[in-house]
Amino acid sequence: MKLNLNGNINKIYVQSLCMMFYHGVKFPENGESCDNLELTVTVNESKSAVHCTALLRQDERFVEKSASCNFMENESVDRTYKIAIGQAIYSAGAEMTGRDSGYGILTGIRPSKVVAEILSHNDVTDTMNILTKRYLMSIEKARLCIEVAKNETEILRSTDDSKCSVYISIPFCPSRCNYCSFISYAGKKLFSLIPDYLEKLCVDIKNTFDNIKKLGLTVSCIYIGGGTPTILSEEQLDRLLSTIYSSTDVNALDEYTLEGGRPDTITEKKLETAKKYGITRISVNPQTLNDDVLERIGRRHTVAEFLDAYKKVSESGIPIVNTDLIAGLDYDNYDSFKATVDKIIELSPANITVHSFCVKNAAQIRSDDKDIYGKNTDFARKSIDYSICALLYNGYTPYYMYRQKNTVGNSENVGYAKKAFLGLYNVYMMSDAHTVFGIGAGATTKLVKHVNGNSCIERIFSPKYPYEYLKENRDFYDKAKNFFDRSLL
Ligand SMILES: C[S@@+](CC[C@H](N)C(=O)[O-])C[C@H]1O[C@@H](n2cnc3c(N)ncnc32)[C@H](O)[C@@H]1O
Ligand code: SF4
Repeated sequence: MKLNLNGNINKIYVQSLCMMFYHGVKFPENGESCDNLELTVTVNESKSAVHCTALLRQDERFVEKSASCNFMENESVDRTYKIAIGQAIYSAGAEMTGRDSGYGILTGIRPSKVVAEILSHNDVTDTMNILTKRYLMSIEKARLCIEVAKNETEILRSTDDSKCSVYISIPFCPSRCNYCSFISYAGKKLFSLIPDYLEKLCVDIKNTFDNIKKLGLTVSCIYIGGGTPTILSEEQLDRLLSTIYSSTDVNALDEYTLEGGRPDTITEKKLETAKKYGITRISVNPQTLNDDVLERIGRRHTVAEFLDAYKKVSESGIPIVNTDLIAGLDYDNYDSFKATVDKIIELSPANITVHSFCVKNAAQIRSDDKDIYGKNTDFARKSIDYSICALLYNGYTPYYMYRQKNTVGNSENVGYAKKAFLGLYNVYMMSDAHTVFGIGAGATTKLVKHVNGNSCIERIFSPKYPYEYLKENRDFYDKAKNFFDRSLL
């Protein structure tokens, strides 16, 4: 796409608006148009407002839209510029393509963060007005974001720089799902690394909790994720959880999650072990309750296996059960996804996370099908809309949200919970609320401190692959100590 930008305009922002309408569009630096798309944006300022015009050409068709936005109290001049530019481009793109995600000009990963900021200066009615009239959001998405923003704000009040969380990575899975791009390994050769991986992980776990004590931090959440942590054998899971148990006071935690994930890895003995060592939250994920789709996406488990695993998990005494769903999966359809949501609501887990199917570069499905967006957009959007209505109607509250590039339908991922069971770790992590120590291959340690209301963040990356992780010995203590000491200056 060729861009002609006249005035004070952020090119990256314009590009992200265009990508909402034209997936995968490129913006050649030499300005040449390679796909018959051209956008000319002109912006200027008067005493009270920013004025913008966007002229969009697609082949021989032209659409021109203008917007004027008044400067507002509690809104920076930069933000007013972004809104005027966004309104003009969004209106032109929506008319040209007939596409509208409901998010209006919000292109970022965390729409609820912007909404929380608006809510901090305005009541709910004014916030609704701002979101629908200035940000061009639909009423439904504005309402969803307001609910998430209120819950996130409440959760974030419960932490500060004296607290931290710990993420432990088990990057192995029984098989590779064809939509997934997470760092995770399947196959006999790679599974042979697990015993050595676990031993090194246990050493690092002990050291990390020792270091956390020395740094004077309190552990709020532990999240054992992947991959599929319950791929560990019953003995291996015992070894992992008993090591954590002897390294920190798990009874003092606010949340302790084990991502079971794949139903085909869950046994009664593993659940007993998880309960014994203090796990308070566990995931068992169907993604969809459609056997044909499960087979086609390479999940290698059936609906019956999920229902059996869910029954075991819900009878295990672990208080919070989460189930992950994906709306818009290739080969799925609206009726099947609707039936999935209805069945999950009937099972009544404390947490339900609804993801929008995201086409990832590193996933196998991408190379399988070039027309994935065109085919599935309508059903993906309808599925997400249904999940919002059904979950709210059945007493679930949305508490956590993020959007990703390249989702079918440009929709969101939302964590829902019964009110007493709002998940903490995901919100802390997404909001950079406090330090998270990452242990294991592919895990990231994120040091966080707040100085004069601003977050300072430093990341330390673990080696990406298990065999690299096995070769390296890293100790983050000096780096972390230095980071926190600097905050006192
Ligand atoms: C880190 S994965 C691990 C979960 C676990 N291994 C499992 O598969 O059940 C967390 C969740 O991300 C979601 N996910 C993964 N790839 C996705 C994609 N391409 N689009 C949308 N959601 C995706 C799935 O719902 C998945 O349960
Ligand atoms: S979706 Fe889960 S089980 Fe499937 S490959 Fe990704 S991490 Fe592994």
